Amino acid sequence: MGSEFSLLPEQASTIAAHVDALYYFLISVSLFFAALIFFLVIYFAAKYRRRSENEQPPPIHEDLRLELVWTLIPLGLAMVMFAWGANLYFRLSRPPADAMDLYVVGKQWMWKVQHPEGQREINELHVPVGQPIKLTMTSEDVIHSFFIPAFRIKMDVVPGRYTTTWFEATKTGEFHLFCTEYCGTRHSQMIGRVVVMAPVQYEQWLRNGNGAPGPSGEAPEVAGARLFQEQRCATCHGANLGGVVLGPALDGLLGRPVKLQNGETVIADESYIRESILNPTAKITAGYQSLMPTYQGQINEEGLFHLIAYIRSLTKTGEKAAETRAEQ
Ligand code: CUA
Repeated sequence: MGSEFSLLPEQASTIAAHVDALYYFLISVSLFFAALIFFLVIYFAAKYRRRSENEQPPPIHEDLRLELVWTLIPLGLAMVMFAWGANLYFRLSRPPADAMDLYVVGKQWMWKVQHPEGQREINELHVPVGQPIKLTMTSEDVIHSFFIPAFRIKMDVVPGRYTTTWFEATKTGEFHLFCTEYCGTRHSQMIGRVVVMAPVQYEQWLRNGNGAPGPSGEAPEVAGARLFQEQRCATCHGANLGGVVLGPALDGLLGRPVKLQNGETVIADESYIRESILNPTAKITAGYQSLMPTYQGQINEEGLFHLIAYIRSLTKTGEKAAETRAEQ
């Protein structure tokens, strides 16, 4: 941390300076008007004070110009705040396409992180500098909130659904990670550190774990494939059923629009796949019957992330297959 005086934490992500600029703008506007009102209250109290016992103030009529000025200037300022804030909000909610996918599970009272290469860690988050990182997050119990002050990102982590956020770290070093939603007795200890490393060091860390909670050695899609086997998902979603198709094919599914029985079309994103595993009757694909049992209580949140990673890997091979088909 620098020795210079600063009201705010260090800026360590691509978005941090933009968040701070908006914040300083809001503070400046508020300070300016607070000062103006203080000054005018005192000035007018002195200037228009009653000067004799029987003084009668003259009747006052409104001035249209004055009314317009004090309506239009605040309106303009509020619109600047709105447009600026909305723009920043959209940037914060749309991860770049080349972002690395990390999964986060919050539970009382720890953060569990799963890397795409198989690394898992608790209350630590190792990332390479200069690489956009997308976090897909959920909770096993109550609402938590994932907060990295130096990156200016904060996102609720909610049981029963996925929330996402992203960042790109701009400097190496260690930064605080907090839970910023009161979540029970040890909420204040649900903290950790973010370690931003040069890409080479990150590769090294991925390989040997660096003394941190060791690599499980199993990539999420591999764990997902195993779970897919164990739960016998292939019985219905497999390719070779001798012509009998009980469930929709899963390759190329993630991110694709799906036509439902009720005529609606939804995008098969992570949340859709999660819901279809836990509550299969909620959104049935057009042309299929409601045959799938629920896996609620049988697959935990980490298992769901693994299955999604597995389906994502099928998507990648599915894309390749589609490309080859198109080329032929
Ligand atoms: Cu988790 Cu506070």
